[in-house]
Amino acid sequence: MSQKAQIGVTGLAVMGRNLARNFARHGHTVALHNRSYGRTKELVEQFGHEGTFLPAETAEQFVASLERPRRVVIMVKAGPATDAVIDEFAPLLEEGDMLIDAGNAHFADTRRREAALKAKGLHFVGAGVSGGEEGALHGPSIMPGGPKESYEALGPLLEDIAAKVDGEPCCVHVGPDGAGHFVKMVHNGIEYADMQLIAEAYDLLRQVGGLSPAEIAGVFGQWNEGRLGSYLIEITAEVLKQVDADTGKPFVDVVLDQAEQKGTGRWTVQAALDLGVPVSGIAESVFARALSGGADVRKAAADAGLPGPSASAGAHAGDLVADVEQALFASKIVAYAQGFQQVQAASKEYGWDIDPGAMAKIWRAGCIIRAKFLDFIKQAYDKQPDLPTLLVDQYFLDAVSGAQDAWRRVAATAAQQGIPAPGFSSALAYYDGLRAKRLPAALIQGQRDFFGAHTYHRIDKEGSFHTLWATEDRSEVDA
Ligand code: 6PG
Repeated sequence: MSQKAQIGVTGLAVMGRNLARNFARHGHTVALHNRSYGRTKELVEQFGHEGTFLPAETAEQFVASLERPRRVVIMVKAGPATDAVIDEFAPLLEEGDMLIDAGNAHFADTRRREAALKAKGLHFVGAGVSGGEEGALHGPSIMPGGPKESYEALGPLLEDIAAKVDGEPCCVHVGPDGAGHFVKMVHNGIEYADMQLIAEAYDLLRQVGGLSPAEIAGVFGQWNEGRLGSYLIEITAEVLKQVDADTGKPFVDVVLDQAEQKGTGRWTVQAALDLGVPVSGIAESVFARALSGGADVRKAAADAGLPGPSASAGAHAGDLVADVEQALFASKIVAYAQGFQQVQAASKEYGWDIDPGAMAKIWRAGCIIRAKFLDFIKQAYDKQPDLPTLLVDQYFLDAVSGAQDAWRRVAATAAQQGIPAPGFSSALAYYDGLRAKRLPAALIQGQRDFFGAHTYHRIDKEGSFHTLWATEDRSEVDA
């Protein structure tokens, strides 16, 4: 075979197909492979005119059609399918070749695969890719991990197909082994939190404010012009505008109110628990989806007629639309602050040396959580890469302190009127927890010492102490 491909894609379902087309549209020759050849043929028939594709029927042909070092993008369902593809291709590859997993893999799997392939002299790059089908075709945000040297041969191709902001690609080498997939996972966790907060805003405007979905679409349209401007706010307006063709009802009223999930939000929370980082906003959003999907429990509650607040629960004491905007912005800041803190904690734990400002930079376009305010996050970390929390950066501090009265009114209204707003309320509780001079954790230490002699530290002396709770004088001893 004379002509060689710069890159190959195996797994040609919609995401793989669109990535392959994106590479081809950027002038790269793309080798194609799929478990069933039908899909490969179909791609070439439909989109062959977009660039140069080298379709291969077998893994051997596919590998032979790639220039060295070979770059093989794997785009299959995360999990055992990825291992199967690696097992198929690794024996055909040579030292220095690269396998790039562009699926939503768990970062621990990526670490394991990277270590195993390194032992064989191969580079394994776990690359987070965000932006859905459209992003894959027109410019995703790409978060590649893996060995730094692989980025020299791979980065320019990925940067070509990535989304751009002022000509700068939304793609950067995140860090070694599982760093890319970890960051993509947290991106998705933040995505869950963002979506939950937006859903709560909608619910309050509808239930407290009495606005129709079409009117709320208008509100979101306006918000999108301001500091909340983001892809998720924009598509929320579109979804709320939609009218069901069958019934003539708003689309949101004919869809079952049970949110599904593929699991990346849950992974984010599991990893945060292990790292000891309180990502309460992300956790609430995962739990809210689980609650919505708990049909049996919800039915039992409905059957039992769990009572709501008395009819006299007060009206909202303020301009509801303006207050909800403030609550949404402040809660969103908390969710992002928590997610970034988790990335920093993992970076430290695994020695990844992730630049949080670079993450904010590559999330400004292409990905699902792209938002105007990521520019401010980038600036905050550029100023101080080891910022302990975004909430202490001046822009965010001002935004949250400016929002807090409205935020409190919204959380109070939700509680008084019996409307679930776990995202808003937990974000506010997190904020109050962070700023508290004294937390009741001192009492918890006392309880632990009482029942389990777990000891405590004092504010006025060095060392560990234990109180002899069972004795009459309850004296304190050094522990
Ligand atoms: C993206 C998305 C994408 C996706 C997730 C979330 O960044 O392009 O996050 O990865 O839509 O699969 O899906 P669930 O809500 O089903 O977990």
